[in-house]
Amino acid sequence: MKFKTTPYQSDLLKDTGRLSVFYQAIQEYDSDRDLAYDLGCGSGILSYFLADKFKEIISIEMDKKTYGCAKENLSDFENIQVINSDVRDYDFEKKADLIVCEMLDTALIDEEEIPVLNHAKEFLKENGRIIPQGIINAVELACLERDYVHWDEEVNYEILSDETIFSELDFLDDIEPEFKATLKLKATKDGLLNGLKITTYTKLNDNIIAGPMPMLNPPLLIPLEERQVKVNDFIQVELKYIMGNGIESIETRYL
Ligand SMILES: C[S@@+](CC[C@H](N)C(=O)[O-])C[C@H]1O[C@@H](n2cnc3c(N)ncnc32)[C@H](O)[C@@H]1O
Repeated sequence: MKFKTTPYQSDLLKDTGRLSVFYQAIQEYDSDRDLAYDLGCGSGILSYFLADKFKEIISIEMDKKTYGCAKENLSDFENIQVINSDVRDYDFEKKADLIVCEMLDTALIDEEEIPVLNHAKEFLKENGRIIPQGIINAVELACLERDYVHWDEEVNYEILSDETIFSELDFLDDIEPEFKATLKLKATKDGLLNGLKITTYTKLNDNIIAGPMPMLNPPLLIPLEERQVKVNDFIQVELKYIMGNGIESIETRYL
């Protein structure tokens, strides 16, 4: 099937690793099949994967042009309704068996996964499921070449510690968008410490955990005040951000 897309949605479709983990998680879904919501449906690709599994699918997209593409792409499916709305303004009427919501970004900082799920989760049945199910965030000390927050795309940096998990989120839990953690890391080599590398692993379901991909949570590089470190130095950093409020909400300080 040929999909009509915007340039951004086209890049999302070209990331076949990203598509295949979502496809697999939807194939493995083994619970009730009356209603699914696809929140932030983009081109409609995940609704297309859901089409032969659910009696009814409601697909919501806030960007008007993208919504137009999804409506056209999914027009042959009588069980799919495509709606142009911000999910947070949509009046949900029915509870769903499944919510699919791919508004992911590294550590969920730059996209609205958590604010949107906090609004929509009320309309999930008691034993309902969410795909993806959650995320795992990990951090490493780094020497960066850029002094601003950026993603790991064609950049150089040196890693100065092992990777440490600093948070795990299950999307069925109540999640406060304001996040704060004390990161405790040990330098594994001498060098100039001036940044953190954040890596997010996506838990699609109980069986599938996906690492970073070009269009699925590429690692995020966050500058820190410069400091020389020696092997075995113990470093503590406070990391704060607001999920859904963008990379401008990131704050760091040494403790
Ligand atoms: C990362 S894209 C994923 C698109 C599609 N689900 C896919 O997997 O290819 C996220 C989509 O969510 C939409 N979106 C972001 N915030 C939204 C909101 N509050 N309400 C509705 N759509 C939203 C964006 O416009 C974008 O199309």
